[in-house]
Amino acid sequence: MMVGAGSAVEAVDLVKHFGPIRAVDGISCDVPYGVSFGFLGPNGAGKTTVMRMICCLSVPTRGTLRVLGMDPAEDARKIKANIGVVPQCNSLDEDLTVQENLILFSRYHSIPSAEAKRRTGELLDFIELADRRHARVPELSGGMQRRLLIARALINKPRILVLDEPTTGLDPQVRHLIWRRLRALKRQGITLLLTTHYMAEAENLCDEIVIMNRGKVIGTGAPRDLVRRHIGRFTLEVPVNGGTAEREVRAGFDGSSCRIERFGDRMYVHADRSETLTGGIEALAGYEPVLRPSTLEDVFLKLTGRELSQDA
Ligand SMILES: Nc1ncnc2c1ncn2[C@@H]1O[C@H](COP(=O)(O)OP(=O)(O)O)[C@@H](O)[C@H]1O
Ligand SMILES: [Mg+2]
Repeated sequence: MMVGAGSAVEAVDLVKHFGPIRAVDGISCDVPYGVSFGFLGPNGAGKTTVMRMICCLSVPTRGTLRVLGMDPAEDARKIKANIGVVPQCNSLDEDLTVQENLILFSRYHSIPSAEAKRRTGELLDFIELADRRHARVPELSGGMQRRLLIARALINKPRILVLDEPTTGLDPQVRHLIWRRLRALKRQGITLLLTTHYMAEAENLCDEIVIMNRGKVIGTGAPRDLVRRHIGRFTLEVPVNGGTAEREVRAGFDGSSCRIERFGDRMYVHADRSETLTGGIEALAGYEPVLRPSTLEDVFLKLTGRELSQDA
């Protein structure tokens, strides 16, 4: 294996069809070693399908894919030995305890039992589940089960950790605990590859993202750069209904360097400097406008006309 050379994952024009469904419709991306790389998009965008191809669980219809410098069609076993996978759905063994789940998985990877025990202890400490080591899976909360899945994915000391929606459905406290653990893993040099439909997750965790919509990449870069490039750093959000309000907002920013958009019953005025927008707060006070930093949700809305929370 070419350690340290090239990219962790490289895809060129990757396509996956399920009959007439174009789940992945020509995706290219380049994931350098050691970064935290995110695929952000709504349900149905094709994120899981991309992850499954990278994890050698699904065969591309077309295109080029290299994982750790290898071709999944030829080197699936070697790739699988060097990646850890946290699937979107819980795939733990319900009849086993926390510790037994990890030991079982270490056998799949042919890790000698003394070493497996040592790693299990370490990982349970790392993921803060040591005191639940003898609990069975159904006794664990959703957040604990997700943490156990992460520990399990780390048992083979992978170079790439793939996480499909790592915090979907979890409460904010658990979400932050998982984010902290993932940041710690990144500091250890592991490449993180994750999917999410939470813009806050992408903004908090990812050095680089691709924004996906309906099987295609519609934007790529560092979260902050994407926001700056497409939107500007600040957004004045104005609830409106009816044409008079819309005309008033547009007139208020006539001739300034703002970008103005309307989606549904809201208007968005974007600018790179907050001072450009502050005048509008008073002028439009009757509509209760809010001035805030722009987000990836704004970028997605601008590029697709839809919200991230809507299905693709
Ligand atoms: N095994 C499959 N058979 C048929 N259609 C599939 C299959 N897997 C995914 N799809 C379809 O491909 C599209 C993308 O799905 P998916 O990759 O799961 O999106 P995401 O993970 O972004 O929500 C969806 O329309 C989904 O219904
Ligand atoms: Mg998915």
